[in-house]
Amino acid sequence: MAYFATALATPNIAVVKYWGKRDEELMLPTNSSLSFTMDETLKTITEIGFDKSLRETSLILDGKKIIGAELAGINKVFSYLHDKYDVKMHAKITSKNYFPTAAGMASSASGYAALAFAINAALGLQLSGKELSIIARLGSGSASRSVYGGFVEWQKGTKADGTDSFAVQIADENHWLQIRNVIAIVDAKKKKVPSRAGMRETVATSRLFKERMKGMDRTLVDMKRAVSSKDFEGFAKITMRESNSMHAVMADAKPPIVYLNDVSIKIIAGVEAINKQDIVAGYTFDAGPNAHIYTLDENVSGVKKMLAGISGIRKTIVCRVGSGPRILG
Ligand code: DP6
Repeated sequence: MAYFATALATPNIAVVKYWGKRDEELMLPTNSSLSFTMDETLKTITEIGFDKSLRETSLILDGKKIIGAELAGINKVFSYLHDKYDVKMHAKITSKNYFPTAAGMASSASGYAALAFAINAALGLQLSGKELSIIARLGSGSASRSVYGGFVEWQKGTKADGTDSFAVQIADENHWLQIRNVIAIVDAKKKKVPSRAGMRETVATSRLFKERMKGMDRTLVDMKRAVSSKDFEGFAKITMRESNSMHAVMADAKPPIVYLNDVSIKIIAGVEAINKQDIVAGYTFDAGPNAHIYTLDENVSGVKKMLAGISGIRKTIVCRVGSGPRILG
């Protein structure tokens, strides 16, 4: 007997950032975070087939068989399924990222969200959003937020076993229809420090990180207020401050971790310039030099014009807020 399903999920881009774990095994964060799930301009499609005859679980990602340490996230998910739901079967997983060529963006969030949905559908587990979020979290922290569309908060939780660390949707994709994310894909020459190692080093060595943590609860409250009242100015200001705060604690790590490059810095200056009169755009950067510029639809052309004047940007992509994962079959 075999059990199959195919699921689609999309990435999310945080405006209150997750950077730091209190438990690396269970992927528990030091602070709550908040993100927008992107539409299907960027997506991961994952097929899964459970079969009693399989001796091990395998993953083919973008046509390449994944082996060794890179399977750690999958193994963690499967041991959770085994312990919690008595799932004894192994599975064949095939996952493909449909990101515009050379997007150079992390796909672990959409990948593990798609996996959680595919597992649930294939085995008919009828898991709640909370459970799907916990399963996705075990693969990659930010994936916990991609199990919902719209505006999503990952509540950090306080329990040691992680049962209260999961995402909740704070507003759906129809709440703020005008919002856009203009992604500027920037050339990255240097290989970056993986998020996991970067977070570990930041928590262990940055003094500024402790200061950042003191303000996180307040930041989250302010951001939720800005989102619920569709206050773009407040939203953009917090988004930029949050990105700068996260990159500041990275730079305060020993040795310093720097993800932004010259082009990223020029984009920050470009956004500052178009924000002189009214705040029309808010940038945020993850663990890499690509910019995510949140703006309203009426200002997309102005943002693109500003970006067109900066050399070193390979491509721009405009995303809306998406509706979250779905089962394709
Ligand atoms: C900078 O979720 O990729 O994008 O939990 O170790 O897999 P792991 O890290 P990951 O970290 C993403 C961090 C970020 C900010 C964010 O998405 O909140």
